[in-house]
Amino acid sequence: MRVAVFSTHPFDRTFLAQANRGAGHELHFVDAKLSAQTLGAAQGCKGVCLFVSDVADAAIMKNLHAGGTRLLALRSAGFNNVDLAEADALGMTIARVPAYSPHAVAEHAVGLMLMLNRKLHRAHNRVREQNFALDGLLGFDMHAKVVGIVGVGKIGACVARIMLGFGCRVLAYDLVRDEELAGLGVEYVDLVRLLRESDVVTLHCPLTPQTRHLINAERLALMKPGVMIINTSRGAVIDTKALIAGLKRGHVGYVGLDVYEEEGDLFFRDLSEEVIQDDVFARLQTFPNVVVTAHQAFFTREALTNIAETTLDNITRFDREGRVAEANRVTLQRHAPRP
Ligand code: NAI
Repeated sequence: MRVAVFSTHPFDRTFLAQANRGAGHELHFVDAKLSAQTLGAAQGCKGVCLFVSDVADAAIMKNLHAGGTRLLALRSAGFNNVDLAEADALGMTIARVPAYSPHAVAEHAVGLMLMLNRKLHRAHNRVREQNFALDGLLGFDMHAKVVGIVGVGKIGACVARIMLGFGCRVLAYDLVRDEELAGLGVEYVDLVRLLRESDVVTLHCPLTPQTRHLINAERLALMKPGVMIINTSRGAVIDTKALIAGLKRGHVGYVGLDVYEEEGDLFFRDLSEEVIQDDVFARLQTFPNVVVTAHQAFFTREALTNIAETTLDNITRFDREGRVAEANRVTLQRHAPRP
C-alpha cells in the first residue's frame, strides 16, 4: 500500500523501514507536519501515517479522503489530534498503537520526579563547574510520601506499581476501578481528595473535553503547598497560565512536564538558533523548580520497535482485509469521552 508518513524524524525512518522489511509497503517519508499546505504529499496514498504533532481536523480529513486516503495509521496511543466524528462521517479507518510501552512513559514520569526532588539537573551543572557545595540541593525521601495518579490505565498502572515499590502511599482517580491494583494497596479516591492529600500529583489520563484544563486554578488551590506536579499525558490537561501563577506564589513546589499545551509549535524540532515566540513557555523555562522534556517519555528502543511493528501491522491488515485489529481501531462510538 502507498502510505504518506508525515512528521518523519530520522528515528522513524530507521524503525519503520526495518518493520516494513518483508511487508513491502511503499512508504513516502515527509519531514513536514500534516497541514493544509503539506497534505498534497498524501495525494493518491490510501494510507496516511501520523504522529502526535499532526492535526487531522475535519477540513484536512475531507481533503485526504478526496485524495484517496482511507486509513489514518497513528504512530501513537493518543488520538486527540484526530476528528473522530469526521472520520466516522467519511468512513475512514483510524488505527493507533494502544500500548507500545507503558513502561517507557511511566519510567520517564518517575525520572522527572526524582530529578526534581533531588535537583539532579542543577547538581549535574554544578559539578561540571567544580562546584561541589550541597546548599540548595536538599531533597526529600520518596518513601512514605503520597503519590496521586490521575488516570490509572496502562501507564498509570505502571506508575502505581513503581511507586508502591518506593514505599509510597498511592492514591488513584479514574472513571474505572482496577481491582488488581486495589488489591496491591492502591487507594481509589475522588479527585478532590487526591489533590488535597498528595505530595506528588502525576497525570496519566487522555486529553478529552472532560480532562482539558483538569488542573486549573481552582484545583491547584486544593493541592498541598509545595506539591510536585508531573504531566506526561497531554499538555492541555493543565491550564499552563494557572500553573505559572501557582509557581509564582510558591504554592506549587515542583513541576515536571513532558508535554505542553502549545507544544505543536516547539517540540520535535531544533530551535536552538531561534527566538522563542511563546512567552508562556519562555516563562516556564525561568523557574528553577521546573523541568521540561520535549515529549520524549515514549522514546525508548522497545517502544519505537513496538510502534513501528504495530503501525506496519495496521497498514498490512487494512491493505489485505480492509480493516485493522479491533483493539487498535479508534471509533467515535468506542472512544467518545464518558461523562
Ligand atoms: P489508557 O487508555 O490505558 O489509560 C487512560 C486512563 O485514563 C483510563 O484508565 C481511563 O479510564 C482514564 N480516564 C479517562 N478519562 C478520564 C477522566 N476524565 N478522569 C480520570 N481518568 C480518566 O492510556 P495510557 O496508555 O495509559 O496513556 C495515557 C495517556 O498518556 C495517553 O492518552 C496519551 O495522551 C499519553 N501518552 C503520552 C506519551 C508521551 O510520550 N508523553 C506516550 C504515550 C501516551
